[in-house]
Amino acid sequence: MNLFRVPRVFERFQLLVFTGHMSPVDRHVTLSLATRDDAIFAVSYADWRTKRINKLLELYGVDWFAGKRVLELGSGLSDIGAFFADLGAEVVCLEGRQETVTFARLKHRDVPRLTIAQCDLEGDFSQYGRFDLIIHFGLLYHIREVDAHMARCFDLADEVVLESVVCDSTDPERILYVPEPAQVAEQSLHGVGSRPSPFYVERLAAERGFAADRHFTADLNHKNMYIYDWPHRNDESHGDWRKRRFWRFHRGAAESSMSEPRAIEAAA
Ligand SMILES: C[S@@+](CC[C@H](N)C(=O)[O-])C[C@H]1O[C@@H](n2cnc3c(N)ncnc32)[C@H](O)[C@@H]1O
Repeated sequence: MNLFRVPRVFERFQLLVFTGHMSPVDRHVTLSLATRDDAIFAVSYADWRTKRINKLLELYGVDWFAGKRVLELGSGLSDIGAFFADLGAEVVCLEGRQETVTFARLKHRDVPRLTIAQCDLEGDFSQYGRFDLIIHFGLLYHIREVDAHMARCFDLADEVVLESVVCDSTDPERILYVPEPAQVAEQSLHGVGSRPSPFYVERLAAERGFAADRHFTADLNHKNMYIYDWPHRNDESHGDWRKRRFWRFHRGAAESSMSEPRAIEAAA
């Protein structure tokens, strides 16, 4: 709920009482989160983020992360990276918008092992080194140069967990380009996004020697907004932000990397 919707006197009371004892930085972070609900501040991110964190825990387990190097790309408020830093990973979060980076650094300033930096991910990011895992959520469809970007990811890690909006096509060569409002803090930095087919993304992975596990499962769905378990119609629609896919890509043994993608059922 946005606090602007409650009566003004009550709102003032709430803000003063609940933030009165806080440090200046905590108060700034809290009031920013309470009074904004645009883009990455939308409440819908909370449920969506929780489900994707749970999926990572299901895939790797709680204990796997301690001591690992993790890269989160297009990290927004960097809550996901911060979670895994809290579990003991050395985490680098890269985000394109300086305003978002500044706020995320304030929000997570007490989280150990967490670096948050501004970086345009249409370009090179290899200077941050190699990682045990790349977390790639909600970013690919905001990138125009998808092939070059994915090649960089597959060069930097043997494990890439990726979720994206895609276009409804079974053609491994199909990719759409769509204009996006660059002034909206969750969209493409440069005003052009892409909607590759799921098979396009899997082809890029296979060409780099990565096997794909498909997690096209309802446990990841957020309301009717973000859907992962939809059947193909081959009509090239992407349902605005609805039609999404989730994969774990891993550099396999030579024979498994060229094998068919595996469909993974959701845990009961
Ligand atoms: C939909 S939000 C996803 C945030 C977060 N990854 C999540 O899944 O909750 C997309 C994020 O990607 C960032 N982004 C868009 N284009 C970018 C680019 N070229 N380089 C770096 N970040 C970019 C946006 O600023 C925004 O924070």
